[in-house]
Amino acid sequence: MAKILIIHGPNLNLLGTRQPALYGKTSLKAIDQELLNIAKGHQLECFQSNAENEIIDKIQNAREDGVQVIIINPAALTHTSIAMRDAFLAVKIPFYEVHLSNIHARETFRHISYFSDIAIGVVSGFGPQGYYAALQAAIEKFS
Ligand code: DQA
Repeated sequence: MAKILIIHGPNLNLLGTRQPALYGKTSLKAIDQELLNIAKGHQLECFQSNAENEIIDKIQNAREDGVQVIIINPAALTHTSIAMRDAFLAVKIPFYEVHLSNIHARETFRHISYFSDIAIGVVSGFGPQGYYAALQAAIEKFS
């Protein structure tokens, strides 16, 4: 059995209605429901926050909680948050980075990620399927 944490960053609570041409029409609730279905028999927690400090606390606490692997869509914090990068380096919990859109086909400021070079894997541009693929890979690797 694997213990897995999913983290969704800022504005992802608006999925379904937020720029659907870019991010699709699937709500965050529906994505989390599908993730819970895929993770049957494993321990999965889904967490969303619009606050960088709350996400950092979640990453820090994950070590004490015995989380083996994290799947994170850092959203806009992908391109700005050295503090979140440092949290991952501190706790040494392996993680996958997920983006619904292809960040490399968008504005140049989105081409930079503070996470990709320390992630186990990166999925970008596959919509919600990217989360599901990352979860399947995590289950395969950590159970
Ligand atoms: C995103 C891409 C980011 O650039 C953006 O700020 C987001 C979502 C994605 O899933 O495609 O909020 O991480």
